[in-house]
Amino acid sequence: MKKTVLTGIKPTGRIHLGNYIGAIKPALELAAEEDPVYFVADYHGLTKIQDAEQMKDLSYGIAATWLALGLDPSTSIFYRQSDVPEIFELSWILACFSSKGLMNRAHAYKAIVDQNRETGREIDDGVNMGLFTYPILMASDILLFQSDLVPVGKDQIQHVEIARDLADTFNRQFGETFKLPDYVVKEESAVIPGLDGRKMSKSYHNTIPIFEEPEKLKKLINKIKTDSTKPHEAKDPDDSTVFALYREFASQDEVSKMRDRFENGIGWGEAKKELFEAMNHVLEEPRRKYKYYMENREELDRILAEGAGKARAKAKPLLNEVKQKIGIKA
Ligand code: TRP
Repeated sequence: MKKTVLTGIKPTGRIHLGNYIGAIKPALELAAEEDPVYFVADYHGLTKIQDAEQMKDLSYGIAATWLALGLDPSTSIFYRQSDVPEIFELSWILACFSSKGLMNRAHAYKAIVDQNRETGREIDDGVNMGLFTYPILMASDILLFQSDLVPVGKDQIQHVEIARDLADTFNRQFGETFKLPDYVVKEESAVIPGLDGRKMSKSYHNTIPIFEEPEKLKKLINKIKTDSTKPHEAKDPDDSTVFALYREFASQDEVSKMRDRFENGIGWGEAKKELFEAMNHVLEEPRRKYKYYMENREELDRILAEGAGKARAKAKPLLNEVKQKIGIKA
């Protein structure tokens, strides 16, 4: 039996290598073996992006990214979250079974509260209710499709655990209804370093956008921080951002050769050149497809609408069952 693998990406910024390596690539690998349900989490994005043009561009951008990187809409369910009203109905239902305390403990919310406290602001400053109840909507995304596996970045583990919690609470009260989902995190390189060696993250301004044009890409790679070892001096591959990124784009054989070259003192300029070649080789075709979809948005609309149809058909029976169990539906 194939497992249902579900994941979403919220349209809040340009996709960078950290997103790609940490979440999208492993998700696509899983998709090839299981039943994928992948979507654009636009209503999650609304907690942050509140400008119409930006929302449109970023949402299409996420959709185009999934397709450019190889998600096949004919063998998956691929949709825009906002096109599936069943998710929001379930979200309200789950909200009524979520304790407020559980939401108070969610990392994303807590981080803001802690920061507000430190800076002497009102503790809930800058927190909208969408952000506060974010984990409930995410639980709804996950549970409505009886997901077995949820590939996510490390920062999202707690959200999947909350989904499990809510499923379990509901099941105890109303009998077996929801599957309890498991998260999947890519361990070996769970933290992808950015240009400055810290975790690649939008908030550190150290990202490499995945569909950057070759010339810009080269320039960014040249900015990657390295240590001061000279050419011919041995370099530690396991302490190098250049190597960490290289291993994600080269074959196993190439990676082990590069490991030797590091130990034999490859120059940083040369190592960066090799990284660029490897990356460009993998990303050239997706970059072209991405551009194509961004210039043909009506095609994206068509693909997403078809996906929403499949998603709704799959979601309706479970939502009906839930509504019957809670006495909202006869
Ligand atoms: N919260 C996720 C993120 O920020 C995006 C997301 C929304 C998601 N709904 C989901 C991920 C359901 C997995 C499953 O990355």
